[in-house]
Formats: sequence, structure tokens, C-alpha cells
Amino acid sequence: MLSFHHLLESSQISNDDIDKILNLAADFKLKFKSGTPLNNIMNGSILATLFFEPSTRTRFSFESAMMRLGGNVITLEQGQSCSAKKGESLQDMGAIVSSYCDLIVFRHPEIGSAAQFAKNSDVKVINAGDGSNQHPTQALTDIYTIFDQKKRLNNIKIGVMGDLKHSRTVFSLLSLLAKYSDNEFILISDETLHLDNHKKQILQNLGVKIVETDDLQSVIKDLDVLYVTRIQKERFDNYETYQKIKNSYHIEPKSLINAKSDLIIMHPLPRVNEIAPEVDKLSYAKYFQQAKDGVFVRMALMALMQNKIN
Ligand code: NCD
Repeated sequence: MLSFHHLLESSQISNDDIDKILNLAADFKLKFKSGTPLNNIMNGSILATLFFEPSTRTRFSFESAMMRLGGNVITLEQGQSCSAKKGESLQDMGAIVSSYCDLIVFRHPEIGSAAQFAKNSDVKVINAGDGSNQHPTQALTDIYTIFDQKKRLNNIKIGVMGDLKHSRTVFSLLSLLAKYSDNEFILISDETLHLDNHKKQILQNLGVKIVETDDLQSVIKDLDVLYVTRIQKERFDNYETYQKIKNSYHIEPKSLINAKSDLIIMHPLPRVNEIAPEVDKLSYAKYFQQAKDGVFVRMALMALMQNKIN
């Protein structure tokens, strides 16, 4: 049993929830690899996925997770064929869609949209991204990778680089890491892409040490994790501002000369040109593994949210 009903933001997830989700995800991964059948767990369940913004990994990993557990999926992509076009409110849509399924995964460009949608839903809703606000299941996937690689979630120096202003994955991840002791956040971005002050304040109130810089090289030698993000073109009010900074962050093998030998590089993906493809073959690169393990994390999350496993 998890401590939350709908999953709308990372702050709802307790440390105990995290333990349960990460343990079950690791167990599902082992079982899947050894060919143990898992398709009796969600047998007969229907997941509805509603995406009003593009997605590859999040949508497919949720859908594949539900199917691997024996459930079914109904889906709506880009809101093209639904009544939102006719002016239906998110609340009405939540009430109706919830009568056709057992669980809903929802993504929308507006901040707070998932909470609106969930208000009248009879089934649990998982926020798969509401604008620049939150993406809690990416954060769970991210800490799965950190724990898998580092065997701890405390005493981590994490550098978070790129578009900290618009990236919903950054704040969701840092909110989870802030629940553990002795973690330090090094925010690497220029002024236009800084993490919003109120988000910084929330993290600082949780007792985390935060350092800000625009120079990766001045901090690279200290980092355990480097989390890189895409500049979120679609969230800029001003296209010229985007044009000016779009290539400001770029990692190549030579950027990593001073890195610790056990540094891990993560990215929620998609990448545009923040990480050169030559970095992919270095031992630091964990972003493809991170995306692959997202299926097991989402399997675990759904099985626990639906009380299919205690
Ligand atoms: C992220 C998102 O949608 O916020 N992608 C994802 O879900 N893996 C990151 C991004 O779009 O840059």
C-alpha cells in the first residue's frame, strides 16, 4: 500500500513508498530477465493514457508496463480526437474517462492540469507531466538509476545542468532527493534558465545545500551524478531568447577529463545536442539504461497503486 491516492507531484511520495517502488521494480526486472511470467498481476485491468503533449518514453513505458503485467491499454494521443477540441473541461473529461478504465496516465501542457483532471476522476490518476511543473514518475525512474548505480540515495553530489527553469523533471527529482540526508545540489545554468526562486526555497527549506554556477568545469571534479536536460524550446515565450542559448550546454568526452571515475551521466531524454553521441560509449553514460528501467519502475508503481501487490 502506498501513501498517496493520485500521483500528482513528487512531494506526495514518502521514503517508505520509494523503498517499496524501487525494491519491486528491481524484483520485476530480475523476474522479467529470467522469463518468470508476470502477466497475472494486472490481468483484466485497463490503463487509459491521455497525452496532450508529445511523448515517446513515458507513454510507451507505461503502456508496455501495463501489458507486461497482463493488463490492457486504451490511449489518446495529442488530444486530436477528443472532446477537449469541443471545449470539454478537464474535470468533466476526468469524470468520463475514469468510467472506462481502472487507472489513468495524463500529460498536458498546463501547470496544474493533472490535478484538475483528477478532481472528478473515479480512478487513480498519474501525472505524466503538467507543463513545466511536475513529472513524478520520471523522478522515480531517475532515483531508481541513482540507487542502482550508487547503492545509496544519500550523500550524493548531483549537478543538474541546462534548462532548470522549464524542466519538470528537475524539480520532481530534486524534491525526492531532498528527502535523504547529506545530498548537495549543484545547479548549472545561466541566469535565463535558473531554477525558480520559489522552487529553490522549497528545497532549501528541506535542508538541502544548493550551489549555483554557470560553469560545469568549475564543479565537474566533485560530482557523483551529472543530470543533463534539454533546453525546452516549446516553453519559451520569446523564440529569440531560445535561439541565443540553445547551444549553451554541450558535453563532449573532453568535458569529462576531470570527472570522478564513477561519475554517472543521466538525462530524462530526448536529447537534442546537450550530449555528443561520442559520450554514449563512455562508462559514465547511463541515460539509455535509465530510460529502459523506466518500464520496471512503472510496472512497480502501477501494481502498488492498484494494490495488486502489498
Ligand atoms: C521529459 C519531459 O517530458 O519532461 N521527457 C520524458 O518524459 N522522459 C524531458 C523533456 O521533454 O525534455
